[in-house]
Amino acid sequence: MASIGNLALSLLPVTESAARAASGWIGRGEKELGDGAAVDAMRIAIAQVPMRGVVVIGEGEKDEAPMLYNGEVVGSGAGPEVEIAVDPVEGTTFLAQGMPGSICVLAAAPKGSMFQPGPAFYMDKLIVPAPARGKIDPAAPMKDKLHDLARAVGKDVRELRIFLLKKPRHEAMIREIQAAGATVRLQTDGDVSGGIMAALGTKVDAMMGIGGTPEGVISACAARAMGADMFGCLAPQKPGEAEAIAAAGLKAGQWLGRDELVSSDDVLFVATGLTSGDILDGVTRSHYFVESESLVISGHDGILRRVRTHQRID
Ligand code: FBP
Repeated sequence: MASIGNLALSLLPVTESAARAASGWIGRGEKELGDGAAVDAMRIAIAQVPMRGVVVIGEGEKDEAPMLYNGEVVGSGAGPEVEIAVDPVEGTTFLAQGMPGSICVLAAAPKGSMFQPGPAFYMDKLIVPAPARGKIDPAAPMKDKLHDLARAVGKDVRELRIFLLKKPRHEAMIREIQAAGATVRLQTDGDVSGGIMAALGTKVDAMMGIGGTPEGVISACAARAMGADMFGCLAPQKPGEAEAIAAAGLKAGQWLGRDELVSSDDVLFVATGLTSGDILDGVTRSHYFVESESLVISGHDGILRRVRTHQRID
């Protein structure tokens, strides 16, 4: 089967156009309208991509936000059969409040290779860079995980920095990390960016904790494309979520490995910065051009491209 890696630069305009469209909403306090602008722009741009795509992870259900819906057929209708996971705006609060770190993101993988989280909204996650692949047990006590991570990345535990979302549900985990001697890097939203930093081993050494399930599957694609490791475990937080997971025949509380979250190496991850953050610069405008920065990561050839695009304003 031909690699979907050839689609990398065809998918780039999808997140770029979403970021350009949503950038008009930066700092306007209207996260739904900003998210909606990104969804509409993505939907138009993705129709041009030479693939037979289906959205299997659409984002938005958890927060009842605008979305590309699960099962939506996307692409030009010719080319490889591809599964798409999207998060048109990851960090909608950052967008609405004009804060750093919102991105427009999607992942693609061959048909049948992405984990289907069904009605699960929340997932516990552990992402570590390539040198730690296969060396961390996600179910081990925190002290042991940090010890194994430190050894794998060639650091002392006291030098480790762990990314977590700043949420009340993580207070105990944060205390455990600090008690073991490591440090935390907390952020109110945006665990996909945290996962990318962890997978690259830049700014943080791991990403841990509970965030959205769509973001989890997207992060697994990024981790796999970079040769990093990831584990995910359905961790219901909303009323009725645990019952819905069980009724769908899924298991909460059981760690899944990276390759169970996405079963192909032939994965693509594409993200464009919306507001400037740790991994990407945001959209900027001059009189003549709109400028954006994107990451395009291809698992097929292990290439990470950082692309700056200048779109002429007519
Ligand atoms: P949105 O862009 O949809 O607002 O998601 C941001 C985010 O922080 C994700 O990065 C994270 O996975 C998820 O929300 C966590 O959800 P919650 O804020 O409900 O705990």
